[in-house]
Amino acid sequence: MTRATLKDVLPAANAHGYAVPGFVCLGWEDARAYVAAAEAEAAPVILQAGPSCRAHTPLPVLAAMFLHLADQASVPVVAHLDHGHTLAECEEALRCGFTSVMFDGSRLPLEENIAQTKTVVDLARRFGASCEGELGFVGYAEGAASKGTDPDEVGPFVTETGVDALAISVGNVHLQTSAGQALDRERLQAIARQTPVPLVIHGGSGLGLEDRQDLPAQTLIAKINVGTELRRVFGQALRNFLSADPDLFDRIAILSASEPPLTDAARKVIRQFGAGGQARSMLRL
Ligand code: 13P
Repeated sequence: MTRATLKDVLPAANAHGYAVPGFVCLGWEDARAYVAAAEAEAAPVILQAGPSCRAHTPLPVLAAMFLHLADQASVPVVAHLDHGHTLAECEEALRCGFTSVMFDGSRLPLEENIAQTKTVVDLARRFGASCEGELGFVGYAEGAASKGTDPDEVGPFVTETGVDALAISVGNVHLQTSAGQALDRERLQAIARQTPVPLVIHGGSGLGLEDRQDLPAQTLIAKINVGTELRRVFGQALRNFLSADPDLFDRIAILSASEPPLTDAARKVIRQFGAGGQARSMLRL
């Protein structure tokens, strides 16, 4: 049994200077590829079901899929709801067996974000699950603009809500199709002075190699979410495979072709974050 929560994997990541990847999953093939990558690298991994994934596949199906993968895996696997926007959505995920939820109250006024996040944290505790909150707002490439996390709000937010991890906005942006986004290191350091809680970077696809290596080693960043970069690998793999044989039509053959390139790409991300080999000491592999 290797089901894990953020509380099982993030404090160790902070202690040893690496980050656990939060891989955005859209279906069976990518989720399976990410667990294969984590096993090949002996790394803990977080499988994440975000809003577009949930719009396509019902939560109970996603939960069953993630938990099945976790139960078969030799490394810790967190089944995480990404960007839950309502208590009801988080509650449904917890009832389905997700081991972790993110309540995203980042568009709410501070007091409301604190109150609603605390309700979700309390609920998650009753299920033995973990909860991530967000303070400030991480924007979207060619979409809503970011609002940087205010370091002065961090202490009260973490203390009053009891979150296990905090997503912050320090120049990171979702959905970037190339890496190299400069982060606001000063803001990041000011945030870290306010709290010992593990920090989360959304929009990991925009992070350059140096940040991927340095941030986990030098700061409290313990979880980095990666989606777009791997979705591009998936799309390219399918395009290559289909164009090589115009007679292909079998769904399983087509989708299975995405798994080896996705596994390779995810292994590279795991190594960049310094997470390779880190499950060994956790599970005495
Ligand atoms: P990217 O798709 O930009 O890598 O971001 C993923 C993410 O932060 C999901 O919450």
